[in-house]
Amino acid sequence: MARRKYVVGNWKMNGLTASLDEAKAIFAAAAEHPAVDVALCPPFTLIGAMAAAAQGAAVGGQDCHSAASGAFTGSVAASMLVDAGAGLVIVGHSERRDGFGETDADVKAKAEAALAAGLSVILCVGEPHAVRESGAAIDHVLAQVRESLPDDFDRSRLAIAYEPIWAIGTGLVPTVEDVAAMHGSIRAALSERIGAGAAELRILYGGSVTGDNAAQLLDAGDVDGALVGGASLTAAKFVPIVAAAAALAG
Ligand code: 13P
Repeated sequence: MARRKYVVGNWKMNGLTASLDEAKAIFAAAAEHPAVDVALCPPFTLIGAMAAAAQGAAVGGQDCHSAASGAFTGSVAASMLVDAGAGLVIVGHSERRDGFGETDADVKAKAEAALAAGLSVILCVGEPHAVRESGAAIDHVLAQVRESLPDDFDRSRLAIAYEPIWAIGTGLVPTVEDVAAMHGSIRAALSERIGAGAAELRILYGGSVTGDNAAQLLDAGDVDGALVGGASLTAAKFVPIVAAAAALAG
């Protein structure tokens, strides 16, 4: 079964009501590329309004709590994301792991809570620069995959995003060979874990993806899509990435 290309924008802590016009332009353009799955993950505050404008694209959260409800001031439960119109959530982004001290066990619990609430999950992994330099990037990332993957999951609702931390927001991108080697290693680890069904899971690349490098990255072995930060904030920058994915999808 061929894996559909998946291009996801992570708006991080960017976006006000006025930004919905960009989202609408992105959704309108995405609708012209039905072979590509497109999603935008805005701040929580925009999910409801964006979902109402989504034209069949998906809208998601950037994080959720692992508990169903309770005394967790400032946090958002997976069921609340569903209630607001989200269909997916990003968990384990390096900005959560590093900035908020989230461990693999936390990420696993969040992924399990999200799946239980009916969301699809994009589970992020990635190495810091020193680990890449030391030659241990693949070991580091595979350990994250092993430790943060839910014990049991529906393959159609889980994607992995490989985001080397040093490539995020820096304009630095690993070589296509390094990306392909990492994605191939992640798929092999998934096969060990869940068997042949690993061929159905999508593995996205994230880190300084732009309209200029998307075609090359998306064509690399085992790269099934992109998780895009800065270049997802405007239609002018994001739509060329979707178009590059569509061209590869044939
Ligand atoms: P940039 O595309 O801005 O490098 O961000 C990548 C990212 O962190 C997406 O989650």
